[in-house]
Amino acid sequence: MSAPERIPTGRLSAVDPVVEPVEAAGPLPGSVVQQPPRSGPERARGVSAAFLADGELTVRGRIPDASNAVLYCTVEHGGRTTACVYKPVAGERPLWDFPDGTLAQREVAAYEISRACGWDLIPATVLRDGPYGTGMVQEWIEAPDDSAEDEIPELLALVADAEPGPGWKAVGFAETGPGRTALLVHADDPRLRRLAVLDAVINNGDRKGGHLLPAVGGRFFAIDHGVTFHAEDKLRTLLWGWAGEPLTDEALEVLRGLQEALEDGVPLAARLAELITDAEFEALRARVAGLLRTGRHPEPSGQWPAIPWPPV
Ligand SMILES: Nc1ncnc2c1ncn2[C@@H]1O[C@H](COP(=O)(O)OP(=O)(O)O)[C@@H](O)[C@H]1O
Ligand SMILES: [Mg+2]
Repeated sequence: MSAPERIPTGRLSAVDPVVEPVEAAGPLPGSVVQQPPRSGPERARGVSAAFLADGELTVRGRIPDASNAVLYCTVEHGGRTTACVYKPVAGERPLWDFPDGTLAQREVAAYEISRACGWDLIPATVLRDGPYGTGMVQEWIEAPDDSAEDEIPELLALVADAEPGPGWKAVGFAETGPGRTALLVHADDPRLRRLAVLDAVINNGDRKGGHLLPAVGGRFFAIDHGVTFHAEDKLRTLLWGWAGEPLTDEALEVLRGLQEALEDGVPLAARLAELITDAEFEALRARVAGLLRTGRHPEPSGQWPAIPWPPV
């Protein structure tokens, strides 16, 4: 097998997010002041959703080249400061297939589901007010620095062979240039497999490599869940490697727990009802029930897997 051409995930890409300086609250900043700190207490992980919701939010910069306004901020509470991302609803780019001004809520709903599954795949995310109005605020995931011994997981690759090779799962063939195709593969990694289930549950319309952020300790986190929970099937992902395969026993158990947590009167159901529409909530329940009924990872509905392209 020839050497895989690794597809960068998140911050592994050449575009380590440079934050442009922002002056002060006014119109949404087009440019900013300060780089995200490279180290120090602001980069400590593990803040709770309550910390993000209650702390004082200060905009430090804007992440350039994002599709929506993505602001790099700090949040301070009880003498502790941490870094976060703030995506104000006012900075959401309208989409043809999602109602305007609803992406922030979907990001929070995705986090709530991830938390209910107990997989800790999505950083803590809350809906709150900020200098540019209501938006989603999410814990900032620090990239492991080069000196760290942390192993950065290899999750996605393009290979010249017809078979994925040991430890990899095939997604499909992709045209990489005129007359050139390569096999798109992802790691046969249990964390990615859980994420594939989570994406099927939340109906993720945009799971690409750049949305997997490597973190310290060889971990990774999934971000960018604005286009989720549509009532129609929108699953568009790189993680088709298990399509049609039986779900793991662990996933089945988690899905059974989730099904109960989505029943009327349970706090998660009440919380989601504030974030997505009734029709979207019913579709969510139906997806969970469908996964439990078939006991299998979903298969692409079309002839070809729905893959985001470019995959980064
Ligand atoms: N929680 C986070 N931690 C660290 N970096 C983040 C986080 N959320 C977003 N980013 C950075 O900001 C970029 C744009 O975020 P993204 O969620 O893709 O925005 P958009 O809604 O515009 O698609 C990401 O590619 C990543 O570099
Ligand atoms: Mg994005």
